[in-house]
Amino acid sequence: MYDLIVIGGGPAGYHAAGEAGHRGLKTLLIEKREVGGVCLNEGCIPTKTLLYSAKIKDNAAGGEKYGVKVSDISLDHKRVLARKKKTVAALVGGVKAVLKSAGVETITADASITGRDDDGFQVKCGDSVYSGKRLLIATGSVPVLPPVSGMDEALKSGFAVTNREILELEQIPEKLTVIGGGVIGLEMASYFASAGSDVTVIEMLEQVGGPIDADISGLLKKNLEKKGIKFFLESKVIEVKQKSVVYEHKSGKNEAAADLVLLSVGRRAYTQGIGLESIGVETHRGAVKTDGRMQTNIPGVYAAGDVNGMSMLAHTAYREAEVAVNNMTGKEDTMSYRAIPGVIYTHPEVAGTGETERSAKEKGLDFRAKTLTMRYSGRYVAENEGGDGIAKILIDNRYGRIIGLHMIGSYASEMIYGACMMIEQDMTIEAIKKTVFPHPTVCEIIKELVFQI
Ligand code: NAI
Repeated sequence: MYDLIVIGGGPAGYHAAGEAGHRGLKTLLIEKREVGGVCLNEGCIPTKTLLYSAKIKDNAAGGEKYGVKVSDISLDHKRVLARKKKTVAALVGGVKAVLKSAGVETITADASITGRDDDGFQVKCGDSVYSGKRLLIATGSVPVLPPVSGMDEALKSGFAVTNREILELEQIPEKLTVIGGGVIGLEMASYFASAGSDVTVIEMLEQVGGPIDADISGLLKKNLEKKGIKFFLESKVIEVKQKSVVYEHKSGKNEAAADLVLLSVGRRAYTQGIGLESIGVETHRGAVKTDGRMQTNIPGVYAAGDVNGMSMLAHTAYREAEVAVNNMTGKEDTMSYRAIPGVIYTHPEVAGTGETERSAKEKGLDFRAKTLTMRYSGRYVAENEGGDGIAKILIDNRYGRIIGLHMIGSYASEMIYGACMMIEQDMTIEAIKKTVFPHPTVCEIIKELVFQI
């Protein structure tokens, strides 16, 4: 009998298991593939190793303007892949070590909940049945496969791939067509353009990057177009053919030629076949329904990470895992989704948190916004010849509190946590003004924004 059985070993599952183990809960973690989940094995981490190589290459190619003479620059994709493999293996090893030191038992198996009795919940893995006093469902998400004609065949033949297969690709395709200009689509478009592919992105909405700030989305698109990426917005893919993708725009039907198609139209919670119905766990729009304590409708059963459909980001999953374990171990804790950072690791990178102008208007908030060029930062100018980065702050008019910050430019991903803390701690611009920022850094742009708004 375990105190806790965790199903799924991604960021939510492994972090929760480790925390629970350290706090003395007898914990079993069941993962059908490799601990680390999508994030570590076929998402965040492998993508970042690829994008870092692309960034070095892009910087080298633009080296002349910084007084660096360079020639014959190219990406050796096979070596990039080898380094990706090494990086992933090292980090998976790290997760395993943490689990071991926390005393967590880990098994590789496909788990399914089969029922409950006075002892707790039963989880079946092949011929074995395990019992746990509590359950944490952390089964993550899977790619959305849209009902597009020819898509199934294309996925079967390998002409179309998802985020998993594209990270294993040995050859750089000549023409890559990306369906969906969200985070995966843009990051992969950015890498493959640097690696030499002729990349086309087809996006249904009027902007790329999903719900990010509209000005930043426009600037990101402009920067990616400079790399040679072609975008078709307000264009919905309706068919995948042998060597092309057909999409519909208000001007009519069009076709984009392709050697490879990346399908990146979103992800959905993975809830099928894990036996939720056997104990009556409630779902909402295909995701496990949770409250602010990450508890499902069944006492003792928690869900964290993509499977609850709240934010589908690894960093949200970590925090949700902590909230779940805190509540399991008698420490009251509530999840806040107010300042979840969103990052797109393209070059230039994008990061934002809190309200955007669009979301603030939709909520009827009384706010003001200020946008500044990143060129107010001396370090930005020194390091970004011709850079067009911007930062935008949103302040609520009633209390003078920061409610949103959005940036495009170098180090945006590393700076955003500061804004998340400011929002979570309800900091006012007066309080931020009293903070000493290091000089010269790009984060001084935040200080400049609060002085100018
Ligand atoms: P996404 O939701 O970010 O973007 C999907 C895009 O596809 C949307 O813009 C949508 O309008 C478009 N679309 C849908 N159907 C279409 C059609 N038929 N034709 C043309 N466009 C269509 O989803 P994505 O990029 O697949 O990423 C999945 C998840 O992975 C996200 O939840 C994201 O949070 C996570 N992720 C996060 C990363 C990060 O934090 N840097 C990196 C990669 C993934």
